[in-house]
Amino acid sequence: AMYTYVDQDTCIACGTCGAVAPDVYDYDDEGLAFVLLDRNTGTFSVPEELQEDVTEAFEACPTESIKLSDLVIAKDALSHI
Ligand code: F3S
Repeated sequence: AMYTYVDQDTCIACGTCGAVAPDVYDYDDEGLAFVLLDRNTGTFSVPEELQEDVTEAFEACPTESIKLSDLVIAKDALSHI
């Protein structure tokens, strides 16, 4: 399985992840990325057909703000999205 979330403390709103994986990442009002699928909690298993996009975003993020895990992450949901 693959789980992902964005560390918004280090995201610089560069816009790459949403360009590479638009079905997975979107941006809040400040342009910071979050995971659409589960409100950035890292609880929704990324569907197989989107895993390549997620891997690409992970590799492309200039600040290493895209986090990946084989295990469920379960962060608090972002309150502002
Ligand atoms: Fe932010 Fe990295 Fe996406 S800087 S906008 S999480 S590619």
